[in-house]
Amino acid sequence: VLKMTDLDLAGKRVLIREDLNVPVKDGKVTSDARILASLPTIKLALEAGAKVMATSHLGRPTEGEYDEQFSLKPVADYIGNLLGKEVRLIKDWVEGGFDVAEGELVILENVRFNKGEKKDDEALSKKMAALCDVYVMDAFGTAHRAQASTHGVGKFADVACAGPLLAGELDALGKALGNPERPMCAIVGGSKVSTKLTVLESLSDICDQLIVGGGIANTFLAAAGHNVGKSLYEADLIPNAKALMEKVDVPMPVDVICGKKFDENEPAVVKLVSEVEDDDMIFDVGPETQKLFNEVLKSSKTILWNGPVGVFEFDQFGEGTRSMSLAIAESEAFSIAGGGDTLAAIDKYGIKDKVSYISTGGGAFLEFVEGKKLPAVAMLEEASK
Ligand code: 3PG
Repeated sequence: VLKMTDLDLAGKRVLIREDLNVPVKDGKVTSDARILASLPTIKLALEAGAKVMATSHLGRPTEGEYDEQFSLKPVADYIGNLLGKEVRLIKDWVEGGFDVAEGELVILENVRFNKGEKKDDEALSKKMAALCDVYVMDAFGTAHRAQASTHGVGKFADVACAGPLLAGELDALGKALGNPERPMCAIVGGSKVSTKLTVLESLSDICDQLIVGGGIANTFLAAAGHNVGKSLYEADLIPNAKALMEKVDVPMPVDVICGKKFDENEPAVVKLVSEVEDDDMIFDVGPETQKLFNEVLKSSKTILWNGPVGVFEFDQFGEGTRSMSLAIAESEAFSIAGGGDTLAAIDKYGIKDKVSYISTGGGAFLEFVEGKKLPAVAMLEEASK
Protein backbone atom coordinates (compact mmCIF):
# COMPACT_ATOMS: atom_id res chain seq x y z
CA VAL A 1 0.00 0.00 0.00
CA LEU A 2 0.98 3.64 -0.46
CA LYS A 3 2.73 5.02 2.62
CA MET A 4 2.64 8.49 4.11
CA THR A 5 6.43 8.45 4.26
CA ASP A 6 6.54 8.17 0.43
CA LEU A 7 4.71 11.46 -0.05
CA ASP A 8 5.67 15.12 -0.07
CA LEU A 9 3.23 16.70 2.38
CA ALA A 10 4.49 20.30 2.26
CA GLY A 11 1.58 22.74 2.17
CA LYS A 12 -0.95 19.91 1.84
CA ARG A 13 -4.14 19.54 3.86
CA VAL A 14 -3.54 16.22 5.59
CA LEU A 15 -6.30 14.38 7.44
CA ILE A 16 -4.91 11.73 9.79
CA ARG A 17 -7.24 9.13 11.32
CA GLU A 18 -5.62 7.99 14.56
CA ASP A 19 -6.91 5.71 17.27
CA LEU A 20 -6.94 8.13 20.20
CA ASN A 21 -9.58 6.09 21.98
CA VAL A 22 -7.88 6.32 25.37
CA PRO A 23 -9.36 6.00 28.85
CA VAL A 24 -10.45 9.38 30.26
CA LYS A 25 -11.45 9.94 33.88
CA ASP A 26 -12.75 13.26 35.25
CA GLY A 27 -11.62 15.01 32.07
CA LYS A 28 -8.07 13.61 32.28
CA VAL A 29 -6.34 11.02 30.12
CA THR A 30 -5.42 8.04 32.33
CA SER A 31 -3.38 5.98 29.85
CA ASP A 32 -1.44 7.68 27.08
CA ALA A 33 -0.08 4.63 25.25
CA ARG A 34 -2.14 5.25 22.11
CA ILE A 35 -1.37 8.97 22.12
CA LEU A 36 2.36 8.33 22.37
CA ALA A 37 2.15 5.75 19.59
CA SER A 38 0.41 8.29 17.30
CA LEU A 39 2.74 11.16 18.02
CA PRO A 40 5.59 10.26 15.62
CA THR A 41 3.13 10.25 12.70
CA ILE A 42 1.71 13.63 13.68
CA LYS A 43 5.19 15.08 14.16
CA LEU A 44 6.37 13.83 10.77
CA ALA A 45 3.45 15.53 9.06
CA LEU A 46 4.02 18.76 11.01
CA GLU A 47 7.74 18.78 10.23
CA ALA A 48 6.95 18.25 6.55
CA GLY A 49 4.98 21.51 6.62
CA ALA A 50 1.54 19.98 6.24
CA LYS A 51 -1.71 21.50 7.50
CA VAL A 52 -2.50 18.69 9.88
CA MET A 53 -5.98 17.62 10.96
CA ALA A 54 -5.95 14.61 13.27
CA THR A 55 -9.10 12.84 14.35
CA SER A 56 -10.36 9.75 16.15
CA HIS A 57 -13.31 8.23 17.91
CA LEU A 58 -13.44 8.11 21.69
CA GLY A 59 -15.69 5.63 23.42
CA ARG A 60 -19.08 4.66 22.11
CA PRO A 61 -21.34 7.74 22.27
CA THR A 62 -24.87 7.74 20.88
CA GLU A 63 -24.10 8.39 17.25
CA GLY A 64 -24.90 11.79 15.85
CA GLU A 65 -25.01 13.57 19.22
CA TYR A 66 -22.45 15.73 20.96
CA ASP A 67 -21.73 14.38 24.44
CA GLU A 68 -19.07 16.11 26.50
CA GLN A 69 -17.91 12.96 28.29
CA PHE A 70 -16.78 11.57 24.93
CA SER A 71 -15.08 14.78 23.76
CA LEU A 72 -11.51 14.66 22.45
CA LYS A 73 -10.74 17.88 24.38
CA PRO A 74 -8.63 16.11 27.05
CA VAL A 75 -6.74 14.37 24.26
CA ALA A 76 -6.16 17.63 22.35
CA ASP A 77 -4.85 19.26 25.55
CA TYR A 78 -2.64 16.27 26.26
CA ILE A 79 -1.10 16.36 22.78
CA GLY A 80 -0.70 20.14 23.08
CA ASN A 81 1.32 19.62 26.25
CA LEU A 82 3.51 16.99 24.64
CA LEU A 83 4.16 19.22 21.61
CA GLY A 84 4.57 22.33 23.74
CA LYS A 85 2.05 24.31 21.72
CA GLU A 86 -1.64 25.08 21.57
CA VAL A 87 -3.69 22.49 19.75
CA ARG A 88 -7.15 23.67 18.73
CA LEU A 89 -10.09 21.33 18.95
CA ILE A 90 -12.51 21.90 16.05
CA LYS A 91 -15.99 21.02 17.20
CA ASP A 92 -18.05 21.27 14.02
CA TRP A 93 -15.77 20.30 11.21
CA VAL A 94 -17.56 18.09 8.72
CA GLU A 95 -18.68 20.99 6.51
CA GLY A 96 -15.23 22.61 6.63
CA GLY A 97 -15.07 26.36 7.16
CA PHE A 98 -11.96 26.38 9.36
CA ASP A 99 -8.36 27.19 8.47
CA VAL A 100 -5.23 25.32 9.41
CA ALA A 101 -1.80 26.88 8.99
CA GLU A 102 1.21 25.05 7.52
CA GLY A 103 2.92 23.23 10.39
CA GLU A 104 -0.17 23.55 12.57
CA LEU A 105 -2.07 20.68 14.17
CA VAL A 106 -5.78 20.77 14.91
CA ILE A 107 -7.83 17.96 16.39
CA LEU A 108 -11.21 17.29 14.83
CA GLU A 109 -13.79 16.34 17.49
CA ASN A 110 -14.91 12.72 18.01
CA VAL A 111 -15.85 11.25 14.61
CA ARG A 112 -18.71 9.34 16.23
CA PHE A 113 -20.56 12.59 16.96
CA ASN A 114 -21.36 12.54 13.23
CA LYS A 115 -24.41 10.69 12.01
CA GLY A 116 -23.42 7.99 9.57
CA GLU A 117 -19.90 7.38 10.91
CA LYS A 118 -20.48 3.81 12.02
CA LYS A 119 -22.59 2.96 8.97
CA ASP A 120 -19.72 4.03 6.71
CA ASP A 121 -22.14 6.52 5.17
CA GLU A 122 -21.13 7.62 1.69
CA ALA A 123 -22.21 11.26 1.93
CA LEU A 124 -20.34 11.68 5.22
CA SER A 125 -17.27 9.92 3.81
CA LYS A 126 -17.28 12.31 0.81
CA LYS A 127 -17.43 15.35 3.09
CA MET A 128 -14.45 14.06 5.06
CA ALA A 129 -12.55 13.42 1.84
CA ALA A 130 -13.27 16.98 0.65
CA LEU A 131 -11.47 18.38 3.71
CA CYS A 132 -8.08 17.07 2.65
CA ASP A 133 -5.55 16.58 -0.12
CA VAL A 134 -4.14 13.50 1.57
CA TYR A 135 -5.96 11.07 3.85
CA VAL A 136 -3.73 9.09 6.19
CA MET A 137 -5.12 5.96 7.83
CA ASP A 138 -2.97 5.39 10.90
CA ALA A 139 -5.49 3.95 13.37
CA PHE A 140 -4.43 0.32 13.58
CA GLY A 141 -6.63 -0.13 16.67
CA THR A 142 -9.70 0.73 14.58
CA ALA A 143 -8.62 -0.85 11.30
CA HIS A 144 -11.13 -3.68 11.84
CA ARG A 145 -14.01 -1.19 11.61
CA ALA A 146 -15.39 -0.25 8.20
CA GLN A 147 -16.62 3.21 9.18
CA ALA A 148 -16.68 6.57 7.43
CA SER A 149 -13.45 7.86 8.98
CA THR A 150 -11.53 4.58 8.73
CA HIS A 151 -12.79 3.26 5.42
CA GLY A 152 -15.30 5.32 3.40
CA VAL A 153 -13.22 8.49 3.33
CA GLY A 154 -10.31 6.61 1.77
CA LYS A 155 -12.42 5.67 -1.22
CA PHE A 156 -13.12 9.31 -2.07
CA ALA A 157 -9.93 11.10 -0.99
CA ASP A 158 -7.56 12.26 -3.77
CA VAL A 159 -4.79 10.32 -2.08
CA ALA A 160 -5.22 7.66 0.63
CA CYS A 161 -2.19 6.16 2.34
CA ALA A 162 -1.08 4.21 5.40
CA GLY A 163 0.49 6.11 8.27
CA PRO A 164 3.74 4.92 9.89
CA LEU A 165 2.00 3.49 12.98
CA LEU A 166 -0.41 1.38 10.93
CA ALA A 167 2.37 0.29 8.56
CA GLY A 168 4.60 -0.59 11.52
CA GLU A 169 1.91 -2.68 13.20
CA LEU A 170 1.21 -4.62 10.01
CA ASP A 171 4.93 -5.23 9.61
CA ALA A 172 5.57 -6.42 13.16
CA LEU A 173 2.48 -8.63 13.33
CA GLY A 174 3.10 -9.98 9.84
CA LYS A 175 6.63 -10.90 10.83
CA ALA A 176 5.58 -12.63 14.07
CA LEU A 177 2.79 -14.60 12.43
CA GLY A 178 4.05 -15.11 8.90
CA ASN A 179 7.54 -16.42 9.42
CA PRO A 180 8.19 -16.71 13.15
CA GLU A 181 11.49 -17.84 14.53
CA ARG A 182 10.87 -21.18 16.26
CA PRO A 183 9.89 -22.43 18.68
CA MET A 184 6.97 -20.06 18.90
CA CYS A 185 4.78 -19.87 21.98
CA ALA A 186 1.40 -18.14 22.02
CA ILE A 187 -0.30 -17.19 25.27
CA VAL A 188 -4.04 -16.69 25.15
CA GLY A 189 -5.69 -15.70 28.38
CA GLY A 190 -9.05 -14.25 29.19
CA SER A 191 -12.38 -15.38 30.49
CA LYS A 192 -14.00 -17.24 27.61
CA VAL A 193 -13.02 -19.76 24.97
CA SER A 194 -16.06 -18.67 22.95
CA THR A 195 -14.82 -15.11 22.37
CA LYS A 196 -11.33 -16.33 21.41
CA LEU A 197 -12.06 -19.59 19.64
CA THR A 198 -11.00 -18.39 16.17
CA VAL A 199 -7.86 -16.86 17.64
CA LEU A 200 -7.02 -20.13 19.41
CA GLU A 201 -7.66 -22.10 16.23
CA SER A 202 -5.52 -19.81 14.06
CA LEU A 203 -2.69 -19.83 16.57
CA SER A 204 -2.80 -23.60 16.91
CA ASP A 205 -1.85 -23.74 13.21
CA ILE A 206 1.08 -21.41 13.69
CA CYS A 207 2.64 -21.93 17.10
CA ASP A 208 4.57 -24.78 18.66
CA GLN A 209 3.15 -24.26 22.14
CA LEU A 210 -0.11 -22.72 23.22
CA ILE A 211 -0.41 -21.56 26.81
CA VAL A 212 -3.97 -20.86 27.89
CA GLY A 213 -4.99 -18.85 30.93
CA GLY A 214 -7.95 -17.62 32.94
CA GLY A 215 -11.43 -18.98 32.26
CA ILE A 216 -10.10 -20.36 28.97
CA ALA A 217 -7.70 -22.61 30.90
CA ASN A 218 -10.56 -23.84 33.10
CA THR A 219 -12.38 -25.16 30.04
CA PHE A 220 -9.17 -26.96 29.01
CA LEU A 221 -8.77 -28.39 32.53
CA ALA A 222 -12.35 -29.66 32.38
CA ALA A 223 -11.61 -31.14 28.94
CA ALA A 224 -8.66 -32.99 30.49
CA GLY A 225 -11.05 -34.51 33.02
CA HIS A 226 -10.37 -32.29 36.04
CA ASN A 227 -12.93 -30.95 38.46
CA VAL A 228 -13.00 -27.15 38.12
CA GLY A 229 -15.58 -26.65 40.89
CA LYS A 230 -17.49 -23.41 40.53
CA SER A 231 -14.87 -21.85 38.26
CA LEU A 232 -15.88 -19.95 35.16
CA TYR A 233 -15.76 -22.41 32.24
CA GLU A 234 -17.75 -23.37 29.16
CA ALA A 235 -18.94 -26.98 29.16
CA ASP A 236 -20.21 -26.77 25.58
CA LEU A 237 -16.73 -25.90 24.31
CA ILE A 238 -14.98 -28.91 25.84
CA PRO A 239 -14.93 -30.71 22.45
CA ASN A 240 -13.24 -27.66 20.90
CA ALA A 241 -10.65 -27.60 23.69
CA LYS A 242 -9.99 -31.31 23.17
CA ALA A 243 -9.52 -30.80 19.43
CA LEU A 244 -7.06 -27.97 20.08
CA MET A 245 -5.07 -30.12 22.52
CA GLU A 246 -4.76 -32.80 19.87
CA LYS A 247 -3.50 -30.31 17.34
CA VAL A 248 -0.91 -28.40 19.34
CA ASP A 249 1.10 -28.79 22.53
CA VAL A 250 -0.91 -27.12 25.32
CA PRO A 251 1.12 -27.12 28.56
CA MET A 252 -1.50 -27.77 31.23
CA PRO A 253 -1.52 -26.24 34.71
CA VAL A 254 -0.45 -28.69 37.44
CA ASP A 255 -1.48 -26.46 40.32
CA VAL A 256 -3.87 -23.54 40.69
CA ILE A 257 -4.80 -20.75 43.09
CA CYS A 258 -8.34 -20.99 44.36
CA GLY A 259 -10.81 -18.96 46.34
CA LYS A 260 -14.42 -19.53 47.34
CA LYS A 261 -15.77 -16.27 45.98
CA PHE A 262 -14.79 -13.49 43.58
CA ASP A 263 -13.75 -10.82 46.03
CA GLU A 264 -10.89 -8.38 46.44
CA ASN A 265 -10.15 -9.71 49.94
CA GLU A 266 -10.66 -13.39 49.20
CA PRO A 267 -7.72 -15.44 50.55
CA ALA A 268 -5.65 -17.32 47.95
CA VAL A 269 -5.21 -21.07 48.44
CA VAL A 270 -2.73 -23.13 46.40
CA LYS A 271 -4.02 -26.52 45.25
CA LEU A 272 -2.95 -29.27 42.91
CA VAL A 273 -5.39 -29.52 40.00
CA SER A 274 -6.47 -32.89 41.45
CA GLU A 275 -7.43 -31.23 44.76
CA VAL A 276 -9.95 -28.70 43.44
CA GLU A 277 -13.26 -29.05 45.32
CA ASP A 278 -16.82 -28.53 44.17
CA ASP A 279 -17.11 -25.09 45.81
CA ASP A 280 -13.69 -23.83 44.62
CA MET A 281 -13.14 -21.13 42.04
CA ILE A 282 -9.84 -21.10 40.14
CA PHE A 283 -8.42 -17.55 39.94
CA ASP A 284 -4.80 -18.07 38.92
CA VAL A 285 -2.13 -20.64 38.13
CA GLY A 286 -0.02 -22.02 40.99
CA PRO A 287 3.76 -21.74 41.59
CA GLU A 288 4.65 -25.08 39.94
CA THR A 289 2.70 -24.11 36.84
CA GLN A 290 4.45 -20.75 36.79
CA LYS A 291 7.79 -22.58 36.69
CA LEU A 292 6.54 -24.82 33.93
CA PHE A 293 5.30 -21.89 31.82
CA ASN A 294 8.52 -19.97 32.44
CA GLU A 295 10.54 -22.92 31.11
CA VAL A 296 8.45 -22.93 27.94
CA LEU A 297 8.91 -19.17 27.53
CA LYS A 298 12.64 -19.42 28.15
CA SER A 299 13.11 -21.81 25.25
CA SER A 300 10.87 -19.86 22.86
CA LYS A 301 12.23 -17.66 20.08
CA THR A 302 8.91 -15.96 19.36
CA ILE A 303 6.25 -15.15 21.96
CA LEU A 304 2.81 -13.78 21.18
CA TRP A 305 0.87 -12.67 24.24
CA ASN A 306 -2.81 -11.84 24.52
CA GLY A 307 -4.60 -11.98 27.84
CA PRO A 308 -3.71 -12.53 31.50
CA VAL A 309 -3.58 -15.99 33.12
CA GLY A 310 -5.31 -14.96 36.34
CA VAL A 311 -7.42 -12.30 38.03
CA PHE A 312 -4.42 -9.98 38.25
CA GLU A 313 -6.44 -6.94 39.31
CA PHE A 314 -6.44 -8.63 42.76
CA ASP A 315 -2.80 -8.96 43.84
CA GLN A 316 -3.27 -12.33 45.55
CA PHE A 317 -4.42 -13.74 42.20
CA GLY A 318 -1.86 -11.84 40.11
CA GLU A 319 1.28 -13.91 40.69
CA GLY A 320 0.77 -16.05 37.57
CA THR A 321 0.47 -13.02 35.30
CA ARG A 322 3.30 -11.23 37.12
CA SER A 323 5.66 -14.18 36.82
CA MET A 324 4.75 -14.58 33.16
CA SER A 325 5.38 -10.86 32.53
CA LEU A 326 8.81 -11.12 34.09
CA ALA A 327 9.63 -14.24 32.08
CA ILE A 328 8.68 -12.42 28.88
CA ALA A 329 10.71 -9.40 29.96
CA GLU A 330 13.79 -11.57 30.55
CA SER A 331 13.39 -13.63 27.41
CA GLU A 332 15.48 -12.98 24.33
CA ALA A 333 12.61 -14.01 22.08
CA PHE A 334 10.85 -11.59 19.74
CA SER A 335 7.85 -10.84 21.94
CA ILE A 336 4.68 -9.26 20.78
CA ALA A 337 1.76 -8.26 22.99
CA GLY A 338 -1.69 -6.87 22.32
CA GLY A 339 -5.11 -6.35 23.87
CA GLY A 340 -6.43 -4.05 26.58
CA ASP A 341 -5.95 -6.38 29.57
CA THR A 342 -2.50 -7.36 28.37
CA LEU A 343 -1.45 -3.73 28.18
CA ALA A 344 -2.78 -3.16 31.70
CA ALA A 345 -0.68 -6.10 32.95
CA ILE A 346 2.39 -4.78 31.12
CA ASP A 347 1.86 -1.42 32.85
CA LYS A 348 1.24 -2.96 36.25
CA TYR A 349 4.40 -5.09 36.17
CA GLY A 350 6.54 -2.39 34.55
CA ILE A 351 7.84 -4.40 31.59
CA LYS A 352 6.92 -1.94 28.83
CA ASP A 353 10.48 -1.46 27.61
CA LYS A 354 11.20 -5.18 27.67
CA VAL A 355 8.54 -6.34 25.21
CA SER A 356 9.80 -6.27 21.61
CA TYR A 357 6.53 -4.99 20.20
CA ILE A 358 3.36 -3.77 21.89
CA SER A 359 0.39 -3.44 19.59
CA THR A 360 -2.06 -0.56 20.01
CA GLY A 361 -4.85 -2.86 18.86
CA GLY A 362 -7.38 -4.75 20.95
CA GLY A 363 -10.08 -6.10 18.64
CA ALA A 364 -7.98 -5.25 15.58
CA PHE A 365 -5.03 -7.20 16.98
CA LEU A 366 -7.23 -10.26 17.51
CA GLU A 367 -8.76 -10.03 14.05
CA PHE A 368 -5.32 -9.77 12.50
CA VAL A 369 -4.20 -12.85 14.44
CA GLU A 370 -7.33 -14.66 13.25
CA GLY A 371 -6.09 -14.06 9.74
CA LYS A 372 -8.95 -11.75 8.79
CA LYS A 373 -8.44 -8.99 6.28
CA LEU A 374 -8.88 -5.67 8.09
CA PRO A 375 -11.34 -3.48 6.12
CA ALA A 376 -9.18 -0.36 6.40
CA VAL A 377 -6.22 -2.26 5.01
CA ALA A 378 -8.31 -3.65 2.15
CA MET A 379 -9.42 -0.08 1.37
CA LEU A 380 -5.79 1.14 1.30
CA GLU A 381 -4.80 -1.69 -1.01
CA GLU A 382 -7.65 -0.82 -3.33
CA ALA A 383 -6.75 2.87 -3.23
CA SER A 384 -3.10 2.11 -4.04
CA LYS A 385 -3.99 0.37 -7.32
C1 3PG B 1 -10.55 -0.33 20.56
O1 3PG B 1 -10.38 0.25 21.64
O2 3PG B 1 -10.47 -1.57 20.44
C2 3PG B 1 -10.71 0.50 19.33
O3 3PG B 1 -10.48 1.84 19.60
C3 3PG B 1 -12.06 0.26 18.68
O4 3PG B 1 -13.10 0.75 19.45
P1 3PG B 1 -14.60 0.25 19.18
O5 3PG B 1 -14.62 -1.21 19.61
O6 3PG B 1 -15.51 1.11 20.01
O7 3PG B 1 -14.86 0.35 17.71
